[in-house]
Amino acid sequence: MPLHNSRRRQLIKRAAQAGRLGMYAVSDAARFWRGSSLSTFDSSRDQIHGRTLYFVHSIEKGLAQSRKWEPRRGTSAIRNLSDSLARCIELGYGTDSFAFDQGISVIQRYRERHEAADVDTQFLDKLLHPIVLAEERLRARAGAGTQRVTSELADEVVRDNFYSLFKRRVSIREFTGEPIDPNGVERSIQSALKTPSVCNRQAWSVFWCEDKQTIARILQHQRGFAYDVMPEILLTITCSNAFFISPVERNQGFVDGGLFSMSVLLGLEAEGLGAVPLNACLYRRDRREVVRILGADPADEIILFIAVGARPETSEIPVADRKPLAGTIKMVKND
Ligand SMILES: Cc1cc2nc3c(=O)[nH]c(=O)nc-3n(C[C@H](O)[C@H](O)[C@H](O)COP(=O)(O)O)c2cc1C
Repeated sequence: MPLHNSRRRQLIKRAAQAGRLGMYAVSDAARFWRGSSLSTFDSSRDQIHGRTLYFVHSIEKGLAQSRKWEPRRGTSAIRNLSDSLARCIELGYGTDSFAFDQGISVIQRYRERHEAADVDTQFLDKLLHPIVLAEERLRARAGAGTQRVTSELADEVVRDNFYSLFKRRVSIREFTGEPIDPNGVERSIQSALKTPSVCNRQAWSVFWCEDKQTIARILQHQRGFAYDVMPEILLTITCSNAFFISPVERNQGFVDGGLFSMSVLLGLEAEGLGAVPLNACLYRRDRREVVRILGADPADEIILFIAVGARPETSEIPVADRKPLAGTIKMVKND
């Protein structure tokens, strides 16, 4: 029996998709190029903060190298950090922010580490921009640095609770329409802040929408939620390209934003809330409209939506069975 689809038509379709792919690739690249922080002189607040956090992390990693620590190592990161902090003040973004605190405190830890090793820190004074040096001397700041953790294993209860929470999470799409406790949603986001991200950039934001009409409008553009009862809260997870500093990081927002979203989903499950992640594979016009409705920044990538609502006592849901472990792990041969 012949297949339902003809090879010729599929070939034409394939060729047409190549054109669309090219168009999306160009607009995605342009968005990353405009939004990311490719130079010290990029000037949005997020770009400055993104660069700051990148260099903070680089210095923290140097300080944490307990066996290989060497004096004066990491001066390039210090120079770049100093530039970012100086630009932050110069552009009027102030000194009262998470990123600025992190920047100054890691410089203080860097100096303390040298002082503890009896190394003269005059070299650091010369590396730092005068306004950064003045800020460093102003007051002791906490935040960045190193911490000590132990190899003690999580106890069995923690382990079993984690696996059972992970196993019981499912997508709930049909909500009851009853109100939910927004604090539970907030707690799940609070907990997701612990999600790892590349060089601890934490480029994510969560746009929180609880107006049913606005939710319906966003979901019309999303095109993947065809249920009568709207969620009580629609979360849109975004990641800002402003936090990324090189073209090789062009997809990093999707990675970090995806991890962050999973953390939120697990938190929502722990809170007993119904939730479903919804794709943001948006057509160009839909994307523009969603960005406008959210009031998102042009540098923001929309990662996905999470519809949250009250779950019925029982729900009929797809099995959504999972592939076996055997085909998932692919052993790499010795090279
Ligand atoms: C990034 C992403 C996008 C998704 N988009 C949709 C969507 O648009 N509509 C929908 O009904 N489900 C969507 N889902 C839910 C998946 O269908 C669901 O997670 C999958 O089938 C596994 O089922 P489970 O979540 O119940 O374990 C999405 C899931 C993810 C992770």
